[in-house]
Formats: sequence, structure tokens, C-alpha cells
Amino acid sequence: MNKVVLAYSGGLDTSVAIRWINEQYNLDVVAVTVELGNQGDLEAIRDKALRTGAIKAFFENAKSDFIRYFVFPSLQAGAMYEERYPLATALARPLIAKVLVDHARREGATAIAHGCTGKGNDQVRFDVSIAALAPDLQIIAPVREWQMTREEEIRYAQQHDIPVPVTLDSPYSTDENLWGRSIEAGILEDAWAEPPEDAYAWTMNPRHAPDEPSYVEIEFERGAPVSLDGEVLDGEALINRLNDVAGSHGVGRIDHIENRLVGIKSREIYECPAAVVLHTAHAELEKMTLSKDQMRFKQLISREMADLIYNGLWFSALTQDLMAYVSSSQRYVSGTVRMRLFKGVCMAVGRRAERSLYNPALATYGEGDVFDHKAAVGFIRLWGLPLENQARTQWLDRSPDDFLRLSAPESRAEHGSTSLRNDG
Ligand code: ARG
Repeated sequence: MNKVVLAYSGGLDTSVAIRWINEQYNLDVVAVTVELGNQGDLEAIRDKALRTGAIKAFFENAKSDFIRYFVFPSLQAGAMYEERYPLATALARPLIAKVLVDHARREGATAIAHGCTGKGNDQVRFDVSIAALAPDLQIIAPVREWQMTREEEIRYAQQHDIPVPVTLDSPYSTDENLWGRSIEAGILEDAWAEPPEDAYAWTMNPRHAPDEPSYVEIEFERGAPVSLDGEVLDGEALINRLNDVAGSHGVGRIDHIENRLVGIKSREIYECPAAVVLHTAHAELEKMTLSKDQMRFKQLISREMADLIYNGLWFSALTQDLMAYVSSSQRYVSGTVRMRLFKGVCMAVGRRAERSLYNPALATYGEGDVFDHKAAVGFIRLWGLPLENQARTQWLDRSPDDFLRLSAPESRAEHGSTSLRNDG
């Protein structure tokens, strides 16, 4: 019998999928669980896959590849989708796809299967990534294909002796890895409703967070974090530790109305303590070490990278090209940022870098000022020259009051709703 490699989480959907694929496609299922942080009891997941009918079950600890090839590059890129979401799930999908393809090749499988629905971004990320890495493999998405309601799915599970997890009682749909946790559904679908405390698992309510701040010093080398408070740590330990300390101060909660690739706006809650602290610290270090022009240009790259990652195009040529720029931009982004964590807020309060462009001798108002004050006069004359020229030739009939009126927003109270701004 031909084989299919299934991305297996141990949850109800992918468990039912094992049987469903057996029946509908007549394929043997090889279950692969990819560990990217907080996956739970991996032995139990493997057992369950085998008991449910998989012919083989593997788990892959891909955490270090995740950090090295996805998380830290996205941090260096400053990639935050819609300026809010650090992309934990979005970054994981292409790596999971890669691991699935590796297993498919090893097993000689003809297909890959995943448990995504037809409404989300994840199906796009999986399908596109698999197609990029192994265009010959068939893709099966049981949950997208079967027409079962939740109740029918549970009945199917019971009929096939598939254990139905008790966590099904949770009103939320969640996903997590070491870069963050996402929470959707239930009451959260009401965009007006404040998330109840039980939506959160990684972060303390800031109201109950310690009354004293914590400080943490994060050292970066070429844009990647290497130590905390002077202690050199590998990426996983560093991220775990930051998730703990920042989470305990209530840092990293995100409440976001997000534009999905499939055209839906969705209300997303995230908990990403380490990601928020590291992005904030990294951006702070770039302020010290990148020129104004580099920073302006990098904002374009950050936005583009975030969209590429979110939209499932990690393996695209454009992503590779932009990452080459990002990597080059990080040459001097080495130094230390001191972060204050307090009552849900993380803030940079100190920063230093060996190749810092922040030059106290130029910046100071005190002793040792080397800035050439006289040079300012000539600079300003040229800077303002176009305006002065325009004033002399075109603005002769304007009064200073006219300039104020030109910038005022239309006020409903003063003008009524139909009047147009008068710019005469
Ligand atoms: N909205 C986020 C994203 O698109 C989170 C998705 C969570 N995925 C999940 N299967 N629960 O990346």
C-alpha cells in the first residue's frame, strides 16, 4: 500500500484523520509530530497515533532549527505582522512542511497530509511550502475535505475507538510553540468582549504581576540574542527564560483584529512574552547601530518580510533575497539592551553598542560638545530654500492665519456634515 505522511498533533482532528485517510484514500499513514516547544507528552502522542491506526509514528525535535533558521532571522528582520503579531505559528509551518517532506522521502510516501481547516492561513502555508519543496507529492487535507460537523466527528471517533480528548471542553482553539501562543474562538469572536483570564496560559494578569519591576540585560551579536544578564545561553534556554520572566510580569499579551490571507478578519489573542521583549530590544539596538536611512529602508523590508511569512511564502525567492539584505544589515547590530519589565509593559531603559552611532560628543548639551553650531546656519538656509522661494513667488497673498486654517480638520460642530473645507 502507498504511504502518506501525516502531520500529527495528537488532537481529535488528526487522530480522526488517520482512520479517515485509511478509509477514503486507502493509504498507510505515517504519523509525524514536530516538537517546536510545548507540544506536551510526546510519548503519549506517539502511542496514540499507533493505537489509532498509524503504521509508524515519529517525533522530531526541531526546536533548534526553528530558532536558528526561522525565529532569529525573523527577529533580525523585525517581522511583525500588522505591527502586532510576531508570527509564531506562521514561522513554524514551513519548517514542519520541510520535516514532513524529509519523512515522505525516507518512507517513499506519495502524499503528505495535514489537519488544517479550509478557513485559515495554515492550510495555505503548508500547501505552498510542500509544493515548493516537493511539487510531486499529493496533498491531503482531511478536515478541509470531510463534511463532518464537530458532533459527527466525535461520533466517528467513538465508532472507531479513537479516544476523544477531554481538552475538547476548552472553549478556545489554540496553537503554540516557543515563539508564542495563539488563542481563538469562543467568546473571543466577540470583538467587543475583553478576553477572559482563562484565555491566557503563559502570562500573568498585569494587575497581579509583581509590584517591583524586573530588569534584564540582553546581549545581541549581529542581531541575534546570545546572553541574558551576562550569561551565555543557547537560543532555546534564552527564549524559555524570557517567556518565564516576562510572562510573570504580564508582558506579551496581544489583542489583535487580524487580516487573514483568505480574506477574513479575525480576532486573535496572542501571548508572546519572549518575542515581544526580544523584538523591542532588537529594534532598540538598531536605533543605536543603523543609520537613519538604513532604518527607514529596513521598515519596508520588515513589513514585506512579515507579509511573506504570514502569507506562506517563506520558501520564495523574494524571501531569500530580502533575508540577504537583512543579514547584511545586522553587521554592527551587536551590543546590549537593558529592558524593564513591569505590569505588562516592557521598555528599553538602557542600551550600548561597541559600534554605536550614538555619539555623546555630538549629542551633548554639556561639556565636550564637538558639534559645529555655525555650520547649522548654512545648512538651514539650503534646507529651507525651496519654501522661501515659494513664499516669495506664490504665497504673497497668504497670511499666517491662512496657514493655520489649511491644516485644520473639518469639524462637524462648526461646519455641519456637508460643508467642504475652505482652502481659499
Ligand atoms: N492567526 C494566526 C496565524 O495565522 C494563528 C493561527 C493559529 N493556528 C491554529 N491552527 N490554531 O498565524
